[in-house]
Amino acid sequence: MIDVAVLISGSGTNLQALIDNCARDDFPARIVLVISNNPDAKGLERAEKAGIPTKVINHRDYPDQETYDDQLDEALNECGAKLICLAGFMRILDARFVNRWRNRMLNIHPSLLPSFKGLHTHERAIEAGVRFTGCTVHFVNPELDDGPIITQAVVAINPDEGADSLAERILSQEHIIYPQALKLVAEGRVRVVGNKVTIRDADYENLMCVNPKAE
Ligand code: GAR
Repeated sequence: MIDVAVLISGSGTNLQALIDNCARDDFPARIVLVISNNPDAKGLERAEKAGIPTKVINHRDYPDQETYDDQLDEALNECGAKLICLAGFMRILDARFVNRWRNRMLNIHPSLLPSFKGLHTHERAIEAGVRFTGCTVHFVNPELDDGPIITQAVVAINPDEGADSLAERILSQEHIIYPQALKLVAEGRVRVVGNKVTIRDADYENLMCVNPKAE
């Protein structure tokens, strides 16, 4: 059983997917702390409802990035977390912090990385005219939305589809691949070689989510 901290900023639907999966007897991870930089994040209520300790560490209360990240680090060490899951945590972390947690910090991003890093991914994917987009779980590198890829799901963009509909369909895939990725890492089956991940005994057929049509 591996202890995980989840960092959020908003609604926390990915957090909910992680909470639900961690509640299963056979799941190899448990959430020991949820940290939000935003005191109004709905995800905090989700954690409280599940009986998980929460902490607000508001970036506005700290003079600079380094002091903020040190505070995060202290809370993470105190709760004994061995892994971090960023789940809609909308703050950039400094390289010192990221390097300290290298290959122990996961992030989910709503695009098929390395395409469409940053914000407004769905609008940009539609604007670019790509036929497929999706979501990615990866280990976090100091560069924004970068690092070895663990799992991805592919979602087709339907003709005339708007960003809200696309975001919703991608989000439902995020809820599948994030717990999958966490499980693989927690089971010790994920190895990083250079900038690539290899997965021991991977069942790729079930691991890769491809959703060519709207549900
Ligand atoms: C998710 O779509 C996640 O992929 C995205 O924020 C949303 C959070 O939703 N993260 C990023 O864009 C990070 N670059 P949630 O709070 O409901 O999980």
